[in-house]
Amino acid sequence: MSDVVTLERKGAIAVVTVNNPPVNALGIAVREGLQNSFKAAEADPEVKAIVLVCEGSTFIAGADIKEFGKPPQAPSLPDVVNGIEAGSKPSVAVIHGTALGGGLEVAVSCHYRIARKDAKVGLPEVKLGLLPGAGGTQRLPRLTGVAKALDMIVSGAPISATEALELGVVDQLIEGDLLSAGLAYADQLIAEGKGPRRTGERTDKLEGVDNAAAVAAKRAEIEKKMPGLFSPQRCISAVEAAFTLPLAEGLKRERELFAECLVSPQRAALVHAFFTERLASKVDGLAKDTPVRDVKSAAVIGGGTMGVGIAMCFANAGIPVKVLEITAEARDKAMQRARDTYGMSVKRGSLNEAALEKRMALISGVTDYADLADVDLVIEAVFEEMSVKQKVFSALDANCKPGAILASNTSSLDLNEIANFTKRPEDVVGLHFFSPANVMRLLEVVRGEKTADDVLATAMAIGKKLKKVAVPVGVCDGFVGNRMVFQYGREAEFLVEEGATPAQVDGALRKFGMAMGPFAMRDLSGLDIGLSIRTRQRQTLPAEFKLPLVLDKMAEAGMLGQKTGKGFYVYEAGSRTPLENPELPAILAAASKEQGIERRELSDEYIIERTIYALINEGAKILEEGIAQRASDIDVIYLNGYGFPAFQGGPMFYADAVGLDVVYAKICEFHEQHGAWWKPAALLEKLAKEGRKFADL
Ligand code: 3HC
Ligand code: NAI
Repeated sequence: MSDVVTLERKGAIAVVTVNNPPVNALGIAVREGLQNSFKAAEADPEVKAIVLVCEGSTFIAGADIKEFGKPPQAPSLPDVVNGIEAGSKPSVAVIHGTALGGGLEVAVSCHYRIARKDAKVGLPEVKLGLLPGAGGTQRLPRLTGVAKALDMIVSGAPISATEALELGVVDQLIEGDLLSAGLAYADQLIAEGKGPRRTGERTDKLEGVDNAAAVAAKRAEIEKKMPGLFSPQRCISAVEAAFTLPLAEGLKRERELFAECLVSPQRAALVHAFFTERLASKVDGLAKDTPVRDVKSAAVIGGGTMGVGIAMCFANAGIPVKVLEITAEARDKAMQRARDTYGMSVKRGSLNEAALEKRMALISGVTDYADLADVDLVIEAVFEEMSVKQKVFSALDANCKPGAILASNTSSLDLNEIANFTKRPEDVVGLHFFSPANVMRLLEVVRGEKTADDVLATAMAIGKKLKKVAVPVGVCDGFVGNRMVFQYGREAEFLVEEGATPAQVDGALRKFGMAMGPFAMRDLSGLDIGLSIRTRQRQTLPAEFKLPLVLDKMAEAGMLGQKTGKGFYVYEAGSRTPLENPELPAILAAASKEQGIERRELSDEYIIERTIYALINEGAKILEEGIAQRASDIDVIYLNGYGFPAFQGGPMFYADAVGLDVVYAKICEFHEQHGAWWKPAALLEKLAKEGRKFADL
C-alpha cells in the first residue's frame, strides 16, 4: 500500500501493518496508508475480518508531533478513524508497546482490541497542550465511563494493559507473536459470526451515572491545581460533549476545541519542551559511534543528603553501589537514611517491602578506599570545600582501577581544578544531581577541559539509565542552572527591599507558573546557603555589583527558614504551610532604609520582568560563553530542575515568545536603573538588533 503501511491477505483476514520507525507516528504517509488499506480490505469480497498490527517497539504512539503548526494535509486523522469505525467487517487492533494519543484513537475506532501484557495505553495530548482530537474524548468515555475517561484525558497518564482490560478498553491480553495472536482472535470472530462492534455507537457506560457531577468535580480540581493551563479545561468540555451531544456533534465539538488548543502558545511551548528534552541528550561534536564504557558497579563518596540520594538512583536502576563515609558511624547513618527514605515510599504505597529489600541489597556502606578498587564509576559528594575534594580525588586516583570514571557532584567548585588532583583528568567529569537526587529528573553533566569523549558519552548514557534528563554543560561557577538562579534569587530579594512582600513575589511567580515562589524555596532549603554565597561575593565582587541586605538581617535575627520555624514566612511546629512573618516588615524596612531605597508599590508584571529577565540575560551570557550548547538545553534545565512551567517553554523560549527586542529594551532600562548586574548580554543585544531569536542560533 505504501512504504509505511502494508496490506496483505492471510486467508479471509486482511492484515494491515504499520512500519514507521521509531514510534509509528501518524504522519501523512501513515494516515494515507491506513485509509487506503482499510478501504481496500473493505472492498475485497474475500476479506472477512481485518487485523491492524505494528512493527518495531510499539503500536502507534500518536499523531506526528512534528506536523503540529504546519498546514494540515488530508486525510485528517479524524477522517481516517471514522472510516475505520464505519467499516462493515470486524477489525482488531493488536497493541504492543504504547498505544498513545492518536494511536489509541485508531485502536478504539477498530471494533476489537487485544494487547500484549506489558503494553500501555493512554491519551497524553494534554501534556502537549492539546486534547485528543480524533475521537478520543468521545470514544474513550463510551468504553470506560465519563469519570475514568476524564481522569485519563486530563492527567494524560497511561494505564497498564491489565487496567485497560478491567476497564473494557481492551478485550483480551496476549503473549507471544503479535500477528499470530491477531489472526487467532480474528479467526474466532469469524467463526462466531461476530460483526463490527462500533465504540461510537455504544451508550451503556454513559447512562445511569451522574456524569455532570463528575465533570463539575474535575473542573473544580483543575481550577485549583492547574489554573494557568489552557488545554485541561477544554479536555473536560470535550468529554462533556460525549454525553450531552450525539456522536457526530460531539466529534465536531472535540474538533473545535482541539483547533483552539492547536493555535495556543501553550501548545507550542509544550511541544518545544517535548522535543528539546530529547535534543538535549545529543552532544555537539561527539561522534555517534563514540564508545561507551561499561558501568556495572558504582560508588558514592560521602553519604550525606546528596550521596545517599545518588546511591538510591543507582539501586533503583539495578546497579550495585557502595557508599564510602569517613567513619563507621557515618556509614551506618547513611545506610539508615537510604532505608528510611525507601520506607517513606513504602508508607505512601509507591514501593513494596520486597522491592525495598532488593534495592537496599544493592547498596553497601564502606569506609575504606581499598573497597573501591573494582568499581566502574565513582561519584564524589563530600563537603563543598576544595581541600576535601583534593583529599578524596587523590585517594580515588590511588585506589581506583584504570578506566574507572571519577565524577564530582560539586555544585560550584572548579571541576578542572578537581580533575587535576588526579593523574587522569581525562577520566574526570561532573555529575551534578539536584536535591533530592532520587527524585529530581535533572542531571547536569559537566564537561571538564580534559574530559575524554568516551567519559562524556558514558556519563550521558548513565544519566539515561538512571532515568534522568542529562544535559551537557561547561565549567563555570554554578554551571547553568544555579548560575542563572542566583540572578533570579538576588532580584527577588531586591524586590522585597524595594516594596514588595515575599508573598506578593511568590504569588506573582506562581501565577506565571513557577512550581514554587523563590522565598518559599529559600525557606525550604535554608537561608544559610544563600547567605554563604552572599558573604563570599561581598569579599570578591567589585563594588558596583550591589547585593541585597535582607538575608544578612534575617540571619542576625535567627531566621534561617523552615529549619528555624521562621524565615520569609513563619511555620507552625510540624507544618510546612507558610504563614506571614509579622517580624519581617520591620527587617525589610530597615534594609530599605539602610540602602536609601524608598519603598513603593510593585506590580506583578514588574516582578516577573525583574526576575525572569534576569534569568534570560544570564542564559544569554551562558550561551555566548559556550557553557550551554543550545538555548533549548537551558530550557530543559529550567523545566526539569527549577520548576519552570512547561507551558511557558523555558526561559529562553519565553524570551523568544515575548520578543528579544522587547526583552533587550527592558534589560537596558534595568541596567540604567539598577546597575552592573543588568549589563545586557552581547548575544542578546545582537539578536535583538538583528530581529532574531534564540531558536535561530
Ligand atoms: N511524533 C513524532 N516523533 C515522535 C513522537 C511523535 N508522536 N513520539 C516520539 N517521537 C520521536 C522522538 O522525538 C524521538 O526522536 P529522536 O530519536 O529523533 O530524538 C524518537 O521518536 C524516540 O522517542 P523517545 O526518545 O521518547 O523514545 P522512548 O522509547 O523513550 O519513548 C514514547 C517512546 C513513549 C512513545 C515517547 O516518545 C512518547 O511519549 N511520545 C509522545 C507520545 C504522544 O504524546 N502522543 C500523542 C501525540 S498528540 C496526538 O496524538 C494528537 C491526536 O489526538 C490527534
Ligand atoms: P552533606 O553535608 O549532607 O554531606 C556530605 C557528606 O560527606 C557527609 O556525610 C560527610 O560525612 C561526608 N564526607 C565529608 N568528607 C568526607 C571524606 N573525606 N570522605 C568521605 N565522606 C566525607 O552535603 P551534601 O548536601 O550532600 O553535598 C555534597 C556535595 O553535593 C557538595 O559538593 C554539594 O555542593 C553538592 N550538591 C549539593 C546539593 C544540595 O542541594 N545539598 C545539590 C547539588 C550538589
